[in-house]
Amino acid sequence: MLEPYEGKLSRTVLRRGRASNRSFLFDKLKEGKIKVFTTDNKQIALIKKDNEVYAISNECPHEGCPLKSGTLDDFTLKCGCHNWGFDIRTGENVDTGEYIDMDDPKVETFETKVENGIISVLL
Ligand code: FES
Repeated sequence: MLEPYEGKLSRTVLRRGRASNRSFLFDKLKEGKIKVFTTDNKQIALIKKDNEVYAISNECPHEGCPLKSGTLDDFTLKCGCHNWGFDIRTGENVDTGEYIDMDDPKVETFETKVENGIISVLL
């Protein structure tokens, strides 16, 4: 079951959610802004960048800080806690000059699709 996490987008999501996909209105997402929604057991961050939509886990693999509070620079989302960086297209770690004490840190990503102005995230 989809639960609201924040803002108007989540309420829209509730009306448009489907059993296996979670759907959203493309026009409600602002370029470069991050919106978070919850599923049964995880938080997903949606990011519109260059008119594409990316979906990644909202949980930083370092110490679990919410990536929503980070900053987006081009396609790199930098965690607000210790500045580790992740490519929103692949989830791969991006070298931000911070020491990484973990093998292959990566954020989970999810496939997205936009049809008739509605975003679907394959979970
Ligand atoms: S919790 Fe994200 S970099 Fe430390």
